[in-house]
Amino acid sequence: MTIQNKVFNVWDYLSDLDSEKQGIMEAIESVIDSGKLIFGPKLSCFENEFANYIGSKYSLGVGNATDGLFLALKAININPGDEIITVSNTAVPTVSAIMAAGGIPVFIDIDKDTFLMNTNLLEDAITKKTRAILPVHLYGQSADIDHIKEIIKHKNIYIIEDCAQSTGSLYKSKRTGNLGDIGVFSFYPTKVLGAFGDGGSCTTNDLEIFNHLKRLRFYGMESTYFSIEQGYNSRLDDIQAAILSFKLSKLDEYIASRNKIANKYDEHLKATNFFLPKRVSYGSHSFYLYVVKHHKRDALMDELRKRNINLSISYPWPIHTMPICKEIKLQCSLQNTERVANEIFSLPMYPGLSEHDQELIISHLLEVDKLI
Ligand SMILES: Cc1ncc(COP(=O)(O)O)c(C=O)c1O
Repeated sequence: MTIQNKVFNVWDYLSDLDSEKQGIMEAIESVIDSGKLIFGPKLSCFENEFANYIGSKYSLGVGNATDGLFLALKAININPGDEIITVSNTAVPTVSAIMAAGGIPVFIDIDKDTFLMNTNLLEDAITKKTRAILPVHLYGQSADIDHIKEIIKHKNIYIIEDCAQSTGSLYKSKRTGNLGDIGVFSFYPTKVLGAFGDGGSCTTNDLEIFNHLKRLRFYGMESTYFSIEQGYNSRLDDIQAAILSFKLSKLDEYIASRNKIANKYDEHLKATNFFLPKRVSYGSHSFYLYVVKHHKRDALMDELRKRNINLSISYPWPIHTMPICKEIKLQCSLQNTERVANEIFSLPMYPGLSEHDQELIISHLLEVDKLI
């Protein structure tokens, strides 16, 4: 066994920086020189570009996706005790945003292979209190939105898409974030479209919802210093917006690179004990994460760590098992969610991962798979 000196993590941005630094510095400088740091022209410009990219009528920059989900729920006038159906194999913020907005998360199980909401379980979970469905487009793939729409047809139930991990991915011919009532995106640095700090966006085609979101992100105000409702403060600043505009022009390239890396993993790991990501038939994958399963995950990760390859688990604990959910009564079994949490983990995935480095990683994965 040869241990390379280079340390690999699941995500890295420095490998992309050489080719992008100039564009990023120019974006930052343009804002600093403009005299407008907040709610300036760079934010409006990015909001327009992002709406165009997603295909939605409106996009609103917010501080991060946790805020975006909270504001989205507030924008549909959620009442205390309203139920929001979602999944437990997600990032904590999906659920904490529901609770912060006064909602009760109702969890349904996931598909064991795609890790996405099992929409066949949705109908039984709907009650008179159901206010919204909050599917999570996890790891870069879309949940089956048409099936959700069919089930909630003629019911007064909203769809809020958690697109934090799915920027750029398609459901049929439409982008995620343009499928339900509101789409919520994260621009946290690790994301497919990542800022150099925090950031997020809410997208919608509904003018009333858009105006409501806009007030909510700015102290409940429509014009300066006059608040017409309880509001909050959640801004995407112009420096992040300018960087995001620059990076948005490369987003399709990033996704193509991520798919190339995923294809190479698929090819080399197919005849091993790794269970590889299942791609849904109805959409495209933006490969925010390349998530595999292995029945000896912990031993495998330990051995790889010794070889300077640090893998990570998204997510080791389903949210419903955490203290934040101690008051939440489960309505159905979450056996797939609980089972996959013990087996899933992510391999290095970022556009700047070179072929040479990926081959090195693959050779260790193959060796360790045989060894343990
Ligand atoms: C599925 C999901 N939802 C919401 C969030 C929250 O995003 P942010 O960190 O921008 O608040 C994340 C971030 O990791 C996420 O992965």
